[in-house]
Amino acid sequence: MPRKIFVTNALPYANGDIHLGHLVGYIQADIWVRFQRMRGNTVHYVCADDTHGTPVMLRAEKEGLTPETLIARVHGEHLRDFTDFGIAFDNYHSTHSEETRRYAEDIYARLKAAGLIEQRAIEQFYDPVKEMFLPDRYIKGECPKCGAADQYGDNCEVCGAAYAPTELKNPRSAVSGATPVQRASEHYFFRLSDPRAAAFLRGWTRGESRPGVRRLPSEAANKMREWLGEEGENRLSDWDISRDAPYFGFEIPDAPGKYFYVWLDAPVGYLASFRNLADQRGGIAVEDYIDAGKAATADTEMVHFIGKDILYFHALFWPAMLEFSGYRTPSQLCVNGFLTVNGAKMSKSRGTFITARSWLDQKLAPEALRYYFAGKSNGSLEDIDLNLDDMVARVNADLVGKFVNIASRCAGFIGKRFDGRLGEIDAPAAEAFAAAWAADEIAAAFEARDYSRALREIMRLADLANQYVNEHKPWELAKQSGKDAELHAVCSTALTLFRDLARYLKPVLPALAAQAEEFLAVEPFDWQGEWQALPAGHRIAPYRHLAARIERAQIDALLEANRDSLAAVAPAAATTPVAAAATPVISVDDFAKVDLRVARIVEASYVEGAEKLLRLTLDIGEEKPRQVFAGIKSAYAPEALAGRLTVMVANLAPRKMKFGLSEGMVLAASDPDGKAGIHLLSPDSGATPGMRVK
Ligand code: 2FM
Ligand code: ZN
Repeated sequence: MPRKIFVTNALPYANGDIHLGHLVGYIQADIWVRFQRMRGNTVHYVCADDTHGTPVMLRAEKEGLTPETLIARVHGEHLRDFTDFGIAFDNYHSTHSEETRRYAEDIYARLKAAGLIEQRAIEQFYDPVKEMFLPDRYIKGECPKCGAADQYGDNCEVCGAAYAPTELKNPRSAVSGATPVQRASEHYFFRLSDPRAAAFLRGWTRGESRPGVRRLPSEAANKMREWLGEEGENRLSDWDISRDAPYFGFEIPDAPGKYFYVWLDAPVGYLASFRNLADQRGGIAVEDYIDAGKAATADTEMVHFIGKDILYFHALFWPAMLEFSGYRTPSQLCVNGFLTVNGAKMSKSRGTFITARSWLDQKLAPEALRYYFAGKSNGSLEDIDLNLDDMVARVNADLVGKFVNIASRCAGFIGKRFDGRLGEIDAPAAEAFAAAWAADEIAAAFEARDYSRALREIMRLADLANQYVNEHKPWELAKQSGKDAELHAVCSTALTLFRDLARYLKPVLPALAAQAEEFLAVEPFDWQGEWQALPAGHRIAPYRHLAARIERAQIDALLEANRDSLAAVAPAAATTPVAAAATPVISVDDFAKVDLRVARIVEASYVEGAEKLLRLTLDIGEEKPRQVFAGIKSAYAPEALAGRLTVMVANLAPRKMKFGLSEGMVLAASDPDGKAGIHLLSPDSGATPGMRVK
């Protein structure tokens, strides 16, 4: 019986670009989905943008857009990135949709009816200027443990301490810069502390998705035991599912001014995207996949691919929400680790925070990344390292040097010498290969998401095929007279082997496999039926080059394209406003090299012995303020400057002056000979120190 599987990927936030770190989980899921379909199983594969919450709201505001306009734009960008990497969702929806609202309200109403929603007032930081409650990450201050400046509201990046935002010293709102005040507000909680929740989750954690397949990877099951505690013990706390206005999200029914927290409706987006797909396509019995009773009878599966950072939400809150509202619970969580690049955390200053789009812009094949990630994926939560040199070597050696090479060395002879028709194959050789094909093992490896094992096995077979070609040397047979029959058989045999390799590689390399199908003039490859040789007389299409080598220069360009001068810490130099002169035309890229920042003049003072200079201390959101000497003494008294905002060049090389080090330059306007005065630039109100000016 074919399986019926509803597969999802974690929904990316609608406030940022898709980067290679995201792609790990999407590529892993897409490979699995393609494999399942080749096996004849029914799969519905959906995703959506995760659109709600404070970051989206504030980002839209910053860009001068409505949240709806921002999320519509990002939706287009995300979908294009996924499509170009061959990630073939059946539907890519949005959590800002009527379907999400309906399911979220329904789940909420049923949890409430089950006595699992509770209301109580809590105290939180409130920004009196911006008039909003502040999520932890929008509160900054000094670490209560080590005193480090500029730390977030929940933990210190310097000493690693975790704390409540209310413990921060000198807290300030990262939104407005104002000092937050504590304020009480009524919140809604999902009562996970109810003994029913722990009892259910204990059983669910131990469950199997299908006979012999654990619902959770063992590392995740261990984590769950830690979160749940021992039998009889209850460590779960209630989950705050509401947020106060202003908030971009769905208002909670009967609770004006209260909104569902983004993490409440994010996974609901899975169901919503599926429902939206079914409404568009027709013929999909959604209830069979999502209704608890019907799913059991229909024997369907619901499989979520997620990153390990969001395990907590998917292994505790989400199954409990579903269970107590009559929906089916997830069959399986497939959890991936983080991505490192060249052995380290992705970094903007090193250029290793690589966006999906930049990879494509450098004309790097999306399937090169799919192949490399697959080769590093073994179904565990381990982090994956993208070593760029290794990636180049592996793709060139395996895909170009081994796989494509088989076809490129044999196809031409079939075209030129045999009118594009295959001959009888070399039976003993074909039998030897048939014995070596480990189709079941490869399938088992794909099923277990151990793609690295599957690819090792496929490449072992590619080696055997290349060995066969090397031994029979078609290029030499072609030069000898009376060897036509042998040449025909060798090339036909090699192309049959190439076909089999392409078939097994298809889940990982769908575009390359499609090119192979076209060139071999065969039906789309699947994974069923007995092995068969391509028949004698079968006509193939003319061979066109299938894959190109990756050049190191492309990688260098990729890193350069992602290098962000923003993140490069380049302390910088001094400053006198200079008159505008005739200037050469520069490119946008040249301009982008100038790191302009909004700066707050913390202090301004005269400099002893300096005729034109003032000493400025500038806050641009860094740990230590910058010192800059500016030639503005003729125009400003120091006391008129303290506290005001201006714009500085933050990445000028520091300059040693008679009076000290100048670490940047402030921007001011003046006419050529300075007669019309010197006018310091200032941003419109709302700008805060550290904001980039571009
Ligand atoms: O961590 C994230 O990127 C979230 N946007 C994932 C949401 S997954 C699901 F629950 F929607
Ligand atoms: Zn600290």
